[in-house]
Amino acid sequence: MKKSLFILLALLMNCFVSVSVGAVDTVRTKHTFEKGWKFTREDETVFSQTNFDDSPWQTVTVPHDWAIYGPFSVHNDQQKVAISQDGQKEAMEHAGRTGGLPFVGTGWYRLDFEVPEFTKGKKATLIFDGAMSHAQVYVNGKNAGEWPYGYNSFYLDVTPYLNAGSKNTLAVRLENETESSRWYPGAGLYRNVHLVVSEDAHVPVWGTQVTTPVITDSFAHVHLNTTWVMPGEKDVASYRIVTEIKDANGKMVSREEEPLSKFDNKVFSQDFVVENPVLWTPETPYLYMAESKIYEGNELKDEYKTSFGIRSIKIIPDKGFFLNGKRTQFKGVCNHHDLGPLGAAVNDAAIRRQIRVLKDMGCNAIRTSHNMPAPELVKACDEMGMMVMVETFDEWATAKCANGYHKLFDQWVEKDLVNVLRHYRNNPSVVMWCVGNEVSDQWNGDLGPKLSRRLQDICHREDPTRPVTQGMDIPDAVVNNNMAAVMDVPGFNYRPHKYQENYKKLPQQIILGSETASTLSSRGIYKFPVTRAWMKKYEDHQASSYDVESCGWSNLPEDDFIQHEDLPYCIGEFVWTGFDYLGEPTPYYTDWPSHSSLFGIVDLAGLPKDRYYLYRSHWNKKEETLHILPHWNWKGREGEITPVFVYTNYPSAELFINGKSQGRRTKDLSVTVDNSADSVSMMNFKRQQRYRLMWMDTKYEPGVVKVVAYDENGNAVAQKEMYTAGEPHHLELVPDRTLLKADGKDLCFVTVKVVDKDGRLCPVADNELRFKVKGAGTYHAGANGNPASLESFQLPKMKAFSGMMTAIVQTQDKPGDITLEVTGKGLKKGSLSLRSE
Ligand code: GAL
Repeated sequence: MKKSLFILLALLMNCFVSVSVGAVDTVRTKHTFEKGWKFTREDETVFSQTNFDDSPWQTVTVPHDWAIYGPFSVHNDQQKVAISQDGQKEAMEHAGRTGGLPFVGTGWYRLDFEVPEFTKGKKATLIFDGAMSHAQVYVNGKNAGEWPYGYNSFYLDVTPYLNAGSKNTLAVRLENETESSRWYPGAGLYRNVHLVVSEDAHVPVWGTQVTTPVITDSFAHVHLNTTWVMPGEKDVASYRIVTEIKDANGKMVSREEEPLSKFDNKVFSQDFVVENPVLWTPETPYLYMAESKIYEGNELKDEYKTSFGIRSIKIIPDKGFFLNGKRTQFKGVCNHHDLGPLGAAVNDAAIRRQIRVLKDMGCNAIRTSHNMPAPELVKACDEMGMMVMVETFDEWATAKCANGYHKLFDQWVEKDLVNVLRHYRNNPSVVMWCVGNEVSDQWNGDLGPKLSRRLQDICHREDPTRPVTQGMDIPDAVVNNNMAAVMDVPGFNYRPHKYQENYKKLPQQIILGSETASTLSSRGIYKFPVTRAWMKKYEDHQASSYDVESCGWSNLPEDDFIQHEDLPYCIGEFVWTGFDYLGEPTPYYTDWPSHSSLFGIVDLAGLPKDRYYLYRSHWNKKEETLHILPHWNWKGREGEITPVFVYTNYPSAELFINGKSQGRRTKDLSVTVDNSADSVSMMNFKRQQRYRLMWMDTKYEPGVVKVVAYDENGNAVAQKEMYTAGEPHHLELVPDRTLLKADGKDLCFVTVKVVDKDGRLCPVADNELRFKVKGAGTYHAGANGNPASLESFQLPKMKAFSGMMTAIVQTQDKPGDITLEVTGKGLKKGSLSLRSE
């Protein structure tokens, strides 16, 4: 009897536990709407209505970029303009400025959904991580709100429009205008859409703010503010918050309970001590979680989790940027938001792969040029260890593009800024805000400085912990009109030769290279003779991978390296760009086909160009870099001068061609920022001699190039060989990962190499390759990094470019084995096995 009573009690308790767990779960639920959307490019007002029959429309999964499927055309958003920033005086027909993809026009998305937990008295909030652009949102036929700026996250209170207990219809109209962008913006619901259901009393979206005002070795003081939204008639004093701080293993390290007082202005304010804190750094991206529960009396009303890190940032005049008390230089890259062949459609696996590639290069920071990032990027940077400079706008009140952000500025700028600041102010990876990029208001001394102060003030109001900068490209004007003096950190785009002069005139005693280099190159393409060139164009629409070409306003990597090494007040740089992006194929403004940039350190397919190894040799001091260029397949160039460059972290090396020494080169440390600034030095590659090893007179003969590297003491410590490859023979497939998630979203990036019978890359091979995926995956997209290619990213065939390309395999949402097969005429078939779990 006793025993059965015990069992009954145990069962009942279990019941209770699960009931209360259930109750805990239901105070806040979040749905992410991915599958089952209907989509059209047509435009009718009736599409917003609940009873409209959308069944003939295309079924799509969000995130979705409607334009990335192409086809490419010179007529898509062909802009007849003069880009004044680039020095163009007269309007000309720009071809691939925005990528030549069909993003202009309207698109509608519709979704039917049910939310059983949405009952009377609950709150429902729709969150868009980003919708491109001019979003008009309808819930059950009613206009629920709008948000024009396509890059920003926004939320709408849809409580009044949602049906409790029956079907709901969400309809979103998007419209992209011509001449609204300087690069490919993407189109559609390219970021995620979520619905949050909470109690009437709740923490609003982005309603917490964590700061870490005191950090010592033995403890950190953590401060948490939690905003509380409550029905008007309720007594403030009936609410209390209980917050536990958990470490990365989920162990509670601090706990506080606090009632809400009527003097708190509906913000719970809590202070915690975390003993022996593990600090967040790019090398140790350690995260804590604040888990809050808010009660009305004894009834749980909301649960809210805030991920954060413990770290300090400080700018000290003349000394630099300090992370946790340690001087840290930005070895950063600027990136646009597109993910190459995936377009703007956000994908976690693709973002994480980019971060891995950049970290291996020694990169420690990303600037989200020129707009708000996807939440997935910031989260990945928090978790993987990458500092972020979050940028917001490419235009303020004065136009760059006829239909750019200036049209929205007056009405939206504060709302846009507030959203991004609240969204990302708890992310430890975010270390600086950048409120503008080369805004045209720089020229206007009556306006630019005042707008700068206004936007910076908004940042300080919402987040008093981070410095604010903007990227300015006309140093004389902004130094003279005080615009640069207003900013916490003066950020300069290009013109490093002006840094010393700017420093003298400015009060901050600090200089940031907010955008640097814009060196041009195409992976695996080399041009002769090897001479310093600006805006050089070739018939093949490529640029030389000897890394000696740039835009008219820009420079080579070493022109930035030397500033940030020699001038103590320079706090580092953000290179334009980490990855190639769709659009802006400078200098091929009018030359079609050209659909993507040539600025990237890494190409559009995510494959490193030679330049990657130059940055790696300078930035990644922990690992060996020993990279030889160009390739050694120069049929027809026998006996001709074919310079050889070596990018290495070793101080010197000797070069051999077919066993014959070509001499030893040593990095010339006598070159300084001041003794190498003249035009003769520039043409003679004087600065390069401090960072690259160059043999300018070597002659091509087929065979083997060997480099032997020496350390500071003259010991031979490493060597590398590069052979002339034979005929294309078979395919080598190198996946970035072999174990994938069976979630229908995970991606494997497979580097496909055309190799000779000995497995050596055939560096000029352009074989057309075909792809087949079997098992629990699909072929998702491919890219070869050729800016002049007009091949579809999605068709399972593509030409290799400089012997390589990237094929992307997507998992399904069922586990299983996946096989990728690659074929090409005259080549032995390649095959690769992957596992999805
Ligand atoms: C800068 C601009 C970038 C890109 C770059 C190309 O002036 O900020 O968006 O256009 O030039 O060099």
